[in-house]
Amino acid sequence: MLKLKLFYIFSCFVFVENKELPKFMRDLRCPLTHDFKPCFLEKGNAAIPLIAKGDPEYNIPKMDPFEIPVVKLFSSPSMALNLTNLKIYGLENLKIIDIEVDLNRRMFRTTLKGENVTAIGNYSIDGKILVMPIKSKGLFSMYIQNGIYIATKIDHIIDKHGEKYYKPVFEPLDYHLEKVDFQIHNLFGENKVLGDEVNRFLNNNWDILMIEFGPEIAQIISKIITDIFDNLAAVVPVKYVFLDDPVFKFK
Ligand SMILES: *[C@@H]1O[C@H](CO)[C@@H](O)[C@H](O)[C@H]1NC(C)=O
Ligand SMILES: *[C@@H]1O[C@H](CO)[C@@H](O)[C@H](O)[C@H]1NC(C)=O
Ligand SMILES: *[C@@H]1O[C@H](CO)[C@@H](O)[C@H](O)[C@H]1NC(C)=O
Repeated sequence: MLKLKLFYIFSCFVFVENKELPKFMRDLRCPLTHDFKPCFLEKGNAAIPLIAKGDPEYNIPKMDPFEIPVVKLFSSPSMALNLTNLKIYGLENLKIIDIEVDLNRRMFRTTLKGENVTAIGNYSIDGKILVMPIKSKGLFSMYIQNGIYIATKIDHIIDKHGEKYYKPVFEPLDYHLEKVDFQIHNLFGENKVLGDEVNRFLNNNWDILMIEFGPEIAQIISKIITDIFDNLAAVVPVKYVFLDDPVFKFK
């Protein structure tokens, strides 16, 4: 019995720690040569909608939509903002529009474009938005129009059980948004006129609002991206990641 248990643990261990990429990604690998960029633009874009379907075996969550039960945004001491039942739509339609590679530093800078990333959920707020005191809860949506997201990752290499693995380290996500459109329902309860007025005001000043909330939102999007790479890198050795074995290039 003990033997069986040990064997079980051991085989799990080996399996968990050393896998090839998910099947749907194996045909989408690129060589780390001068062909990398055109290959990655094509194969990477083919991979996004497939990745977005999720793969529990690799701890990749479903992303069409991506669901987050609770987000606590405390953007300042005078403000508490909780979001619940958050659903983020449009991640499966992100397009890779550029990739910059520095092989010496193992740096990959990927530029993604999202025409429509929309978050829908419940909010509960107690505090001030642009000096207006607000205490309310209800439904909200946030539509990010034509966002550009630039994710920069440096792959460190670590040894685990005699095998080389990447340890990706991400820089803070850089982003440029063309426009953000909020619909916050029930802001002032029965007073729909005031609620509409404040919504209009917030939308006219979305860029000021984003100074406060942009970094939090970027962190949510950034975590979705980094988790995918972290979870894959944790179980897929370096030798399975690219079409050619790059270990020799990365002494
Ligand atoms: C953006 O996506 C959301 C969620 O899929 C959809 O409800 C909305 O109509 C879209 N907006 C535009 C302008 O395409
Ligand atoms: C946000 O959630 C925390 C913890 O659940 C709670 O203590 C706080 O009152 C909530 N704030 C608002 C504005 O709902
Ligand atoms: C979300 O907000 C809507 C509208 O206020 C409400 O009917 C619903 O019960 C809320 N859901 C949760 C889980 O709080």
